[in-house]
Amino acid sequence: MTRPSQSQVQPPARRVLLTEDSPADALLLQSLLGAECVVTCVSTLAEGMAVCSQEQFDIVLLDLFLPDSRGLDTLMQFQTLHSDLPILVMSGLDDEQTAAAAVHEGAQDYLVKGQMDEVLLHRAMRYAIERKSAERALRESEAFYQSLVENLPQYIYRKDMAGRFTFANRRFCTQLGKTPAEVVGHTDLDFFPPELAEKYQADDRRVLAAGKLFETVEEHTPTTGEKEYVQVVKTPVFNAQGRIVGTQGIFWDVTARVRGEERLKKAHSDLARSREDLLRTLVDLQRSHSQIKEAQLQVIEMEKMHTIGQMAAGIAHEVKNPLAVIRMGVDFFSNSPESEAEPTSTIIKDMQDALHRADSIIMGLLDFSAPGKVELRPADLNMLLRSSLNLVRHELKTPHISVQTEFCEHLPAVLVDANKIKQVFVNVLTNAVHAMPEGGTLTVRTYIKKLTPEEAKPSPGARRTHEFRAGERVLVTEFDDTGTGIPEDKLGRVFEPFFTTKETGKGTGLGLTVTRKIVELHEGTIQLQNQPERGARATITLRTERS
Ligand SMILES: Nc1ncnc2c1ncn2[C@@H]1O[C@H](COP(=O)(O)OP(=O)(O)OP(=O)(O)O)[C@@H](O)[C@H]1O
Ligand SMILES: [Mg+2]
Repeated sequence: MTRPSQSQVQPPARRVLLTEDSPADALLLQSLLGAECVVTCVSTLAEGMAVCSQEQFDIVLLDLFLPDSRGLDTLMQFQTLHSDLPILVMSGLDDEQTAAAAVHEGAQDYLVKGQMDEVLLHRAMRYAIERKSAERALRESEAFYQSLVENLPQYIYRKDMAGRFTFANRRFCTQLGKTPAEVVGHTDLDFFPPELAEKYQADDRRVLAAGKLFETVEEHTPTTGEKEYVQVVKTPVFNAQGRIVGTQGIFWDVTARVRGEERLKKAHSDLARSREDLLRTLVDLQRSHSQIKEAQLQVIEMEKMHTIGQMAAGIAHEVKNPLAVIRMGVDFFSNSPESEAEPTSTIIKDMQDALHRADSIIMGLLDFSAPGKVELRPADLNMLLRSSLNLVRHELKTPHISVQTEFCEHLPAVLVDANKIKQVFVNVLTNAVHAMPEGGTLTVRTYIKKLTPEEAKPSPGARRTHEFRAGERVLVTEFDDTGTGIPEDKLGRVFEPFFTTKETGKGTGLGLTVTRKIVELHEGTIQLQNQPERGARATITLRTERS
């Protein structure tokens, strides 16, 4: 093996392997190749193949007749090892036919020794290199698309104009349980039930007639199992001249998607139905709410009437005394016109007092029973309490209950519906009286208080429709009795409607329910607790006029 001296070669120098056993031909070719090529010259096929394994070449110039190999076999052997290299075959005049066969077998071109010049040689080399590289790119691209088509999860095929399969990818063949060779050349009729095959062929005819894409979702119901859905896309296949030469199809299972869409559709309509139900329920709820509100007002009214009934006897008793005084006065004037026994002015004064008393009792009753909503007006809390105490006065006599008032005399006005608040006080006072069947002491206390953050929080068990603010000034009324107190296990239930410990006919159990409702209408709170020593304490907290 000889290697010519390498002169200064400017890139891109072509790396040429010259396989030529005739030293004269080798020399001639080297001179034709010139300085722009780096030439490695060998004289046998074995040497050529060996040097190719060690070094990189751009092209091989191959004489087919070498000492260790002759004719086409020289090319075949070379290509087995180095199929990626472009090969230019060189022939003598007498073996041009072999050289032409070599091109058929994969050589890029052949050159006839003695008939080539520098230009021809270089052009042939350039074309050979370009062709080989184009071939390589094509091969790679083909391999790329083939691997894509073979590995896609879709089923892909091609058919000719007669509906015979010309290609089927791996997935399609696996689905049919056939090899590609068993599919190619056959038609749908060979693989599918007749009516299905005919449908497929009709689709193909449609594509061929229209010359454009056809897309559909097919529905299959296997003999066993649920419906399946397949998305199908079919297109015509055109040849280089733009003529339709067949059809191709791609299809894939979309059962999950279609089922998902169906579920979604159902969910949507369920949702719409639920929404309608919800709206209907809302309307019902609103109706129920206003009915409950109405019923609540009725309960308040009922409770009021009940209390009035209870008080009627006492009031009658109260009114009887002043009336008796008035009657006595009237009798006196009618029977003894010239009486000297008593001065007239004293009798008239007694009659005036009696009238005043009877009037205030009746007015209190009227106030109390006056119907209406919560109409808030500034009022004097102590006055309201006095008036309420007056209403239950007769109840305090037997058993004897002494009343102590500890009123703060400088209270700001309270914003209340006077009649309703009096109903609250009467209920609480009546409860206290009933809790002292043996008599006792009832203390009614009022004071003003600035709430600490701790006190502003709702106390456990207390319901509050409106929050008090820390630092807010509120009016507190406490009713302390020395009665039985409330058993601890019942404390949590006293505000429940119809909860009573009184015997049938004595208590309805609505008193505190109504009371709390009224207090809440005033944005206030009511609490009932036992005192440490004995008896119970009811505490009512109300906002001042300014809060
Ligand atoms: N000061 C109190 N001392 C002891 N127990 C009380 C006191 N206040 C209320 N209770 C208890 O709370 C229960 C409920 O009171 P509420 O006023 O709601 O109904 P009632 O007094 O039983 O009947 P009515 O509807 O006639 O008022 C009473 O039955 C009683 O057991
Ligand atoms: Mg009561």
